[in-house]
Amino acid sequence: VTASVVSVLSGARILPVLTVPSVATAGPLADALTAGGARCAEVTFRTPDAEQVVKAMAAHGGLAVGAGTVLTSEQAERAVVAGARFVVSPGYDAEVVATCRELDVPVVPGVATATEVMRVLRAGLDTVKLFPAEPLGGMGMLKALAAPFPRARFLPTGGIGPAHLPGYLAHPAVLAVGGSWMATTGHVERGDYDGIRRLTAEAVERSRG
Ligand code: 3PG
Repeated sequence: VTASVVSVLSGARILPVLTVPSVATAGPLADALTAGGARCAEVTFRTPDAEQVVKAMAAHGGLAVGAGTVLTSEQAERAVVAGARFVVSPGYDAEVVATCRELDVPVVPGVATATEVMRVLRAGLDTVKLFPAEPLGGMGMLKALAAPFPRARFLPTGGIGPAHLPGYLAHPAVLAVGGSWMATTGHVERGDYDGIRRLTAEAVERSRG
């Protein structure tokens, strides 16, 4: 189940996390992200339009679009129907994972402790979102948490900015790094698509070392 999300994320290395206030902005946002070199994006289910945004951005064609902040099975189903190719959650919920399995869509649960990593591994998954990565201790936490779990692959997200990228991406257990800094709600509200393109291009360049 995780093979496809692993290949998408390990190829992309950067996952822009988007909280999009209105579906009208989905097109220009997808244009700006792809122009900056992004290959995937996570649309959070934190706004009423999220489902429509997933649909519009998936139809755009240039990005592998996933759904984020998925807290319930019902949201997971709606996200997948809308075209989400993967599902990300801030924590681990057995029902969300079971629903994603039934729908055959890759799911990345959030973890903040060793116990949670163990729970995810026991559920048969091996990709976890370390969330919120920076408040938890950043690289120090990542290294300590990765050490006992050689099978686990991490998607650190939360409080991350461009300066943190090389450090995280140099760790062999890190699949990709997620974050909202490349395309914040503020950028979208101001219509600053050029800023989004620039920040995305900068992140993509840093990710290549
Ligand atoms: C998420 O849901 O992944 C986070 O809100 C993204 O974290 P960030 O906004 O601190 O980058």
